[in-house]
Amino acid sequence: MKKRYLVTAALPYANGPLHIGHLAGAYLPADIYVRYLRLMGRDVVFVCGSDEHGAAITVKARKEGTTPQAIVDKYHAILRDTFEKIGISFDIYHRTSAPIHHATSQDFFRKLNNNGEFIEETTEQYYDETAGQFLADRYIVGTCPVCANPEAYGDQCERCGSTLSPTDLIEPKSMLSGSVPVKRPTKHWFLRLDKHEAWLREWINTGKVDGKQLHHPADWKNHVLGQCNSWLDQGLQPRAMTRDLEWGVDVPPEIPGSEGKKLYVWLDAPIGYISATKQWAQDHGKNWELYWKNPDTRLVYFIGKDNIVFHCLIFPAILKAHGDFILPVNVPANQFLNLEGRKLSTSKNWAVWVHEYCAEFAGQEDALRYNMVKRCRSRATASLPGRVFRKPTTTNW
Ligand code: 2FM
Ligand code: ZN
Repeated sequence: MKKRYLVTAALPYANGPLHIGHLAGAYLPADIYVRYLRLMGRDVVFVCGSDEHGAAITVKARKEGTTPQAIVDKYHAILRDTFEKIGISFDIYHRTSAPIHHATSQDFFRKLNNNGEFIEETTEQYYDETAGQFLADRYIVGTCPVCANPEAYGDQCERCGSTLSPTDLIEPKSMLSGSVPVKRPTKHWFLRLDKHEAWLREWINTGKVDGKQLHHPADWKNHVLGQCNSWLDQGLQPRAMTRDLEWGVDVPPEIPGSEGKKLYVWLDAPIGYISATKQWAQDHGKNWELYWKNPDTRLVYFIGKDNIVFHCLIFPAILKAHGDFILPVNVPANQFLNLEGRKLSTSKNWAVWVHEYCAEFAGQEDALRYNMVKRCRSRATASLPGRVFRKPTTTNW
């Protein structure tokens, strides 16, 4: 029997074009792996799409004085065309604004709710009185409690890589109005991650669930296992799966108290892999469930290192809580690519943009692919001299 694989690559936020850090970190390694599997005659589906919700999008829309819809339409088209030009051979490049994705995410929420996986709790969240709204984690900046970076976000410090909660920040400030946010009570649905801690620990470290060998930890990258264990060692806490936002997937409207609530982007985005597979199956007369529910399928997520805990702990907990889904056999996460010693960043406009390369060096896409692979192959953190890109002499590559 032909071996079956489902390979996913992290859904890029549709808030900016693709840069070479994205390419080197997730898309090229995934593409090379998939092309190899196809050559070996495997049954493989390779899915991706634009991540069109979350604060990354609304922050960009505010900055550009436009709507989130206009932002995602613009960047979805750029991302889709860039992937095609640079030769990333997805079977489908989907988007999370698609109705099939909203329906799939809402069904997940219903199933988890019916399975008793949530606790509803009213907690104090940051609210901007000047802007008149609750603040998404990314809308709050403050000092990182770990490394004292004064520009850490409410969900993450980009300097030291710590995953944070807004309440961890020292001297928090709202990015909307610059004012000091106040705490206000609001109700949310929390996934009982604490209930999943024991099996996740065993699955990550032994590959076994209920005595079945599902993966081999020796095949996993050490930094992936290390980051998971450091989270597990701190103890998993219930995590809010809903937010007070205007942009995103609605909490199913029949659920009491759902008005104004949207799904947390880290519940919605990985489900994008499933909805993309469903759409691909519909388009090709295939059965999507074989790829997500059959234990013979090997599921592999290619991601950047800032996505590790979401793909190795939180999404597996969601899949297991649902009950019908398989778990990944590997999550190859890569380190970040640096340019002149600084991490590439869309929001800080520090990047080499792939669509610009493709426009300027049409026909030389493989030169960039080869260069990225060669530089990144064996390094923990690859660092590129910017001059290579400012005055590119492509014949040297
Ligand atoms: O970090 C990011 O760019 C996210 N958009 C990745 C999402 S991956 C998956 F969950 F969809
Ligand atoms: Zn920090």
